[in-house]
Amino acid sequence: MKKRILTGITTTGTPHIGNYLGAIKPALELAGPDSESYFFLADYHALIKQTDPTLIESSVKDIAMAWLASGLDTNYSNFYRQSDIPEVHELTWVLTCSAAKGLLNRAHAYKAVVAENISNNADEDKAINMGLFSYPVLMAADILLFNATHVPVGPDQAQHLEMARDIAGKFNHTYKQTFSLPEALIQNEVSVPGIDGRKMSKSYNNIIPFLCTEKVLQKSISKIITNSLEPGEVKDTKGCNLFQLYSAFASADQIASMQLAYDDGIGWGDAKKELFSVINQEIDPIRHRYFNLAQQPDLLNDLFSDGAKKVRPQAQQLVSEVRDLVGISKIV
Ligand code: TRP
Repeated sequence: MKKRILTGITTTGTPHIGNYLGAIKPALELAGPDSESYFFLADYHALIKQTDPTLIESSVKDIAMAWLASGLDTNYSNFYRQSDIPEVHELTWVLTCSAAKGLLNRAHAYKAVVAENISNNADEDKAINMGLFSYPVLMAADILLFNATHVPVGPDQAQHLEMARDIAGKFNHTYKQTFSLPEALIQNEVSVPGIDGRKMSKSYNNIIPFLCTEKVLQKSISKIITNSLEPGEVKDTKGCNLFQLYSAFASADQIASMQLAYDDGIGWGDAKKELFSVINQEIDPIRHRYFNLAQQPDLLNDLFSDGAKKVRPQAQQLVSEVRDLVGISKIV
C-alpha cells in the first residue's frame, strides 16, 4: 500500500525562512511519486488563537502562496482548506465521544497555559477556550478522516499524534476496525536563529521574511545583531547566529570555507553579503514563482475549490461509514 502523507498548517502569521526550512521544504521532499500526499490549511485551528478575521484571511493567502511557490504541485498533491471539508466537524464530534477527558487534560499546549495561570495566581482556566482544550480531537479528525498513514510534524506535535492514535484505537475497539493508526514523522527541529539570536519567531519580531523582494531580504539580513569585532579580528563561529543561519542554507564546502573566513577575521559586512548570497540563491526561484502566481486572479479560490472536490468524496464516504457504525443512519 502506498504511504499516505498528510499534514496541516495552522493559518496564523506569515511564513518566515524558519518555517520554510523546518516545515515546508521537508514536507515537500516527502511528497514523492511513491506516496499520496495531503497538505491542508488548518484554518479552523487558527481560530483558537486568532480572532482578527482579516489576519486569518491574509495568513491563508500567504501560507498557501508559500507552499505553492516552494514547489507544491497540485497535480500530484492534494491541497485544500480544512474549512472546505465540513465532514471534519462531523467526525470531530464522534471522536470527541471516544476521547477521554483525562487524555486531553494532559495535552502540553493546554497544560502550559494552566501552569502559567497558576504561577500568576490567576484562575487556572483563565483565557482558555474549549478550542484550546479540544484542539487535539480536531487534529485527530483531520488525520483519521483520510486514513493518513504518515504525518510529518514538528516535535511539538508528537503528543497530538499519540492522542490521535489513542482516540482512533478507542473508536476501533468500541465499534469496528475503521481507522489506521497514523505514524508521526517527526521533523528535526531546524534551529534557525532570528536576527537577534533568539529562535526565529514572529512573536519575538526577529524574523527574516520568506516571500519578499531581494531588497527586503538584504535589509533584514543587515539588521542581524553581531558583536563589535572589527574586520581582521578572529571571530568565533560557535554561538554565532549569523554562522548558524549561513549553515542552514550553505553546502558543506561553503560552510568549511566560511569557517576559515571567520578564523581569518572576515568583517561582519562581508559575512552578511555571503549570507545574503546563499539564502538568495535558494529563494530566488521561489520568489519568481511567487510573483508570477500572485498575478493570477482567483488562483487560490480555484485551487481550493478543486482541492476540496478531489478529497471530499473520500471524507463523505468515511463519515457515512462512521454514521452507520454508531447507529446514526437510515432506519431499517
Ligand atoms: N496542529 C498542527 C500545528 O499547529 C497543525 C495541524 C492541524 C496538523 N491539523 C493537523 C498537523 C493534522 C498534522 C496533521 O502545527
